[in-house]
Amino acid sequence: MQIEPVQPKHMEIRRLENTETPPYELLLLADPSLVLVDKYLKEGECFLCEMDGEIIGVFVLLMLNPETVEIKNIAVREAMQGKGIGKQLVKEAIRIAEEIGYRKIEIGTGNSSLNQLALYQKCGFRIVEIIHDFFTFHYKEEILENGMVCRDMIRLRIELAS
Ligand code: COA
Repeated sequence: MQIEPVQPKHMEIRRLENTETPPYELLLLADPSLVLVDKYLKEGECFLCEMDGEIIGVFVLLMLNPETVEIKNIAVREAMQGKGIGKQLVKEAIRIAEEIGYRKIEIGTGNSSLNQLALYQKCGFRIVEIIHDFFTFHYKEEILENGMVCRDMIRLRIELAS
């Protein structure tokens, strides 16, 4: 009997085309506010991660000022989480920011987002600021995570060599 060789999965990260619908089910995993998601989709640039033609991840980059870009949203499909894809997306976002010539890349997350805080720090981000009550002020519904209320935004940054 002949055994079929297992084909390596093909993963690609590319820009969302103007003609494509953004992957809202993924974007809303990272940010429950459709209003905010739509706002930064309009102003920023959305990147998709496809595996064998299926969208499994997303991130959005938004210029804050000519020196600084922010990862406004990053998400991996639930069934595919914990396999290193999120880390690859963060690293690709950093690479793109460096290639464009930004001097800083930032990301904001919740005080209760413990896994995300671990991921970003493992990718080189350092905590630079806390915006107290950001989530309680800007989001109608209370966000509960890891048994905690998500209240404050923790801002992290990498100073890029350029
Ligand atoms: N302590 C220490 N390290 C932790 C950790 C913890 N509690 N939780 C995660 N990590 C580490 C993992 O060990 C891994 O690092 P390693 O490769 O050095 O071991 C890394 O963080 C995460 O790995 P990865 O598998 O690449 O993450 P992922 O594919 O699950 O993607 C998210 C991460 C956050 C994008 C994904 O979980 C997701 O889509 N979540 C929902 C949306 C979301 O919350 N987005 C972010 C909003 S701020």
